[in-house]
Amino acid sequence: MQIIKTIHELHPIVKAWRKEGLSVGLVPTMGYLHDGHKSLIERAVKENDRVVVSDFVNPTQFGVNEDLASYPRDIARDAALCEKAGAALIFHPQPEEMYAPDNCTFVDMNRLTKGLCGKTRPTHFSGVCTVVSKLFHIVTPDRAYFGEKDAQQLAVIRRMVRDMNFDIAIVGCPIVREPDGLAMSSRNTYLSEEERGAALVLHRALSLGEEMMRAGERDTGKIRQAMVDMVEREPLAKIDYVEIVDSDTLEKVEWAASSVLAAMAVYIGKTRLIDNFTFEN
Ligand code: PAF
Repeated sequence: MQIIKTIHELHPIVKAWRKEGLSVGLVPTMGYLHDGHKSLIERAVKENDRVVVSDFVNPTQFGVNEDLASYPRDIARDAALCEKAGAALIFHPQPEEMYAPDNCTFVDMNRLTKGLCGKTRPTHFSGVCTVVSKLFHIVTPDRAYFGEKDAQQLAVIRRMVRDMNFDIAIVGCPIVREPDGLAMSSRNTYLSEEERGAALVLHRALSLGEEMMRAGERDTGKIRQAMVDMVEREPLAKIDYVEIVDSDTLEKVEWAASSVLAAMAVYIGKTRLIDNFTFEN
């Protein structure tokens, strides 16, 4: 399996696949791959003739005081995982390859990106939409695979694809969890042993919310408050947000009448973790 670093090298490879009539799947990642990414790659391998995994820590989606410099990176380990999972190649560009020094074009969206993670990360989704658009243009996949853990990102990308007429199917894949329930994330490596235990509160609180909905509760105010109370009982946790929104519009709902997304972002020490569940009525 090859590691390709430039667009110039990647283009003829994809062109040759196309000439043979092969379908192409793309799994966009920021690297430091875990079993969640592996499940995306394996699904892509099942559904496409060739799979490209992009491995790029995208600077434009990090805010000024965020963890761009310390974000974990290990391309050798990533390559081994991709090869085992059946990917055809890794696209691993440097930031200069993706962004000209005088780059001044960004893809932005004025709905879906203001609430939830967008509240404390106001430039994040513009960075995501910009880099994902670039990857779509560079790789020209038939299908692209994203994890449901980043539920807002998935909704934003689906909307961008619709609005910008990308002829690409977006495939959402289920959250992969550790045996004790913690959603897999490259940022879990930041947690100390004590914080790792405290981080379980996200899954516990979401499970409580889901149980309440299954039992017939539809008042989102009550459900949200129960989840907030549970997180607040954990001394190492600090809530960024806990919200229940419409899964498609991401607008807050008072009554869980249709498909709703219950999502949270919680700081455990200095590490910001996200998790969610979707409830279909
Ligand atoms: O989900 C991620 O890892 C990133 O936001 C993505 C989609 C690869 C864009 O950089």
